[in-house]
Amino acid sequence: MNAVGLHRKLEENAGLLIFGILFVSAIGGLVQVLPSVMQESLVAPEAGARPYGPAELAGRDIYIREGCGTCHSQQVRPLLAEIKRYGPYSRAGESAYDRPFLWGSKRTGPDLHRVGGRYTDLWHRLHLLDPRSVVPNSIMPAYPWLGERPANVGDTIQRKMRALRMVGHPYTEAQIEGAPQALEGMMEVDALVAYLQGLGVSSDGAAP
Ligand code: HEC
Repeated sequence: MNAVGLHRKLEENAGLLIFGILFVSAIGGLVQVLPSVMQESLVAPEAGARPYGPAELAGRDIYIREGCGTCHSQQVRPLLAEIKRYGPYSRAGESAYDRPFLWGSKRTGPDLHRVGGRYTDLWHRLHLLDPRSVVPNSIMPAYPWLGERPANVGDTIQRKMRALRMVGHPYTEAQIEGAPQALEGMMEVDALVAYLQGLGVSSDGAAP
């Protein structure tokens, strides 16, 4: 059968055509998906990567709840302009303990992946409670309630850590037991600042 004959047969037989389409797109899918599942450097945590501590974990969830990701990405792309502005580009192994990851692509505000250590805690506090107090022309919304709500709510933090441990975050029982104490006296804004200050900074405190 020549190529024209084969094509005609495919077009005239719906079942065969569906199978052909699925077969071809499956190959395309595998070519895209397999390397990202199998390549060690894309799935294993980097040497400097560490699971979030209780305050950072609580802060990260506040970040998600308040929708910060709708204006801020956390992914410095490997482009000269971005590296000059934000610092070293983001690598997959740095996000091994980000569940869900918050890379994003919407940049109404600057990328935040390397914001850790760029400002003081006080600057972040003032900026979050009232952005225009430190950046007069800022269009970022104010989050005054973060200064009024305690970061520790019941046993939520312990349950979060236990859930993350089930998917491979190496928390010890002692860390989980001590988590509520670590959040003692903290307001939501403090937890969020702890999270922001740890972004893009490896476990030894050095920028990667
Ligand atoms: C409506 C969009 C918008 C939202 C939502 C938003 N931001 Fe921003 N953010 C901005 C803009 C614009 C800037 C730049 C001006 C400034 O510094 O205030 C900024 C700046 C920042 C900076 C300083 C970054 C730098 O490198 O100078 C931080 C940190 C930050 N935002 C954190 C947050 C957090 C945390 C939240 C959620 C509680 C949030 N933003 C929500 C728009 C937004």
